[in-house]
Amino acid sequence: MTNRDRFLRACRCQPVDRPPIWLMRQAGRVLPEYRALKEKHSFLELVRTPEWAMEVTLQPIRRFDFDAAILFSDILVIPEALGQPYEFVEGGGIEMEPLRTAAEIDALDGAAVRERLDYVPRALRLIKEALGGRTALIGFAGSPWTLANFMLQGGGAKEYVKAKALFYSDRALFDHLLRKLTDAVTEYLQMQIEAGAEAVQLFDSLGGLTTDHVFRDASARWMAEIIRALNDRVPVIVFSKGTHGNWNDLVESGAQIVGVDWTVRLSEVRARLPETVGVQGNLDPFLLTTTPEIVEAEAKLLLREMHGSLGHIFNLGHGVPPTAKLENVERLVNTVRGFV
Ligand code: CP3
Repeated sequence: MTNRDRFLRACRCQPVDRPPIWLMRQAGRVLPEYRALKEKHSFLELVRTPEWAMEVTLQPIRRFDFDAAILFSDILVIPEALGQPYEFVEGGGIEMEPLRTAAEIDALDGAAVRERLDYVPRALRLIKEALGGRTALIGFAGSPWTLANFMLQGGGAKEYVKAKALFYSDRALFDHLLRKLTDAVTEYLQMQIEAGAEAVQLFDSLGGLTTDHVFRDASARWMAEIIRALNDRVPVIVFSKGTHGNWNDLVESGAQIVGVDWTVRLSEVRARLPETVGVQGNLDPFLLTTTPEIVEAEAKLLLREMHGSLGHIFNLGHGVPPTAKLENVERLVNTVRGFV
C-alpha cells in the first residue's frame, strides 16, 4: 500500500494496514532546512514563489516520509486576495490593517481571487509531479469564521472579540462578510482541486470561540456551504478546534473527516460519529517538546485506543510547535509506522 493510498483510503473509512500520519505545520520552523531558507527569503516570498513553496512542502516529506504532504502557504492569502494585505513580523506576529467599517467590508472584492492566487495552483502542479503519486497532496483554507476573526482583529490577538461583537450586534453585516469569505474560499479550494489537491482541510482554528448554540450560525453553516459546493470531488477534513459540543454540526457540515484537538478522548469522538465519517488527531503537540520515550509511550496509547477503528488519520491535536525537537517527530513517525 503506498502512502498516498493509505491516506486516501483512511479518508473514506476503508481498511488500511496502519493509520496514515501527517502533522499540521509539518513544514516550517522545526526544520533546519526551512530555517536555512528563511535566512535568505521572507515567509511571503517562499509562499508566493511556486518553486520555493514546492521545496518547503517537500522538506518534511523527504525527512519523515509522511503519508500526506500539505501545501506550504497560509490561511491569510484569502484576505490578501480580497484586498486586505498582511505581513509577518520576523520573530512572531502578523501585521494587518483591521477591517473597521461597513464600507471596508463592502469593498472586499472576490473578483480577482483566481488571478491573485495564481501562484498556488502553479505550486500544487509542481508538488504533485514531484510526489509522483507516492504521497497524497492536501490543499487547505481557513474557515470563513476563523478568517473573519483575523480580518476584523487585524491579525492574531490574545482575545478575539471583534468577530463575535459583529455577530451579535449586526448580523446582516456579519453575514455579508461571511458570504464574501465563503464564496472566496469555495473558489480557492476548487482551484486547488483542479490543480491536483487530493483532499482539502478547512482550518476552523477559532471555532471554539463560539458558544455551542452559536457555532452553527457563526461557522458551521458556512463550512457546510463550501463542502456542498465542492460536491464530493475530494475528501474534506474539518479541523475545528475546541468545538466539543458540536459534533453534530460538524457531521452535518458534510466533512468526511473531523479533526480533533488533544483535549478529548479520540475513541469517544469516533464512537459518536457515523461510521462513514473519519477522525483525525489528536496527540498533544506539547509532547513533541519532551523526549522520544515519552512521545513513543503516548503515541502507542493513542494507537491502541484507536486500534481496529476505521477512518483514523494520525495527527497532532494542533500544529507542530516551533520548539518541537526533530528526534521527537522522528520517533513519532517511526512509532506509527511500526504499529501493526
Ligand atoms: O501545515 C503546514 O505545514 C502548511 C502550512 C501552513 C502554515 N500556516 C504555514 C505557516 C498552514 C496550514 C497554516 C495555517 C494557518 N495560518 C492557521 C490555521 C492553523 C492553526 O495553526 O491554527 C492560522 C491561524 C494561520 C495564521 C498564521 N500564520 C499565524 C497565527 C502564524 C504565526 C505568526 C507567528 O509568526 O507567530 C502564521 C505564520 C506561519 N504560517 C508560519 C508557517 C510555517 C511561521 C512563519 C515563519 O516564521 O517562518
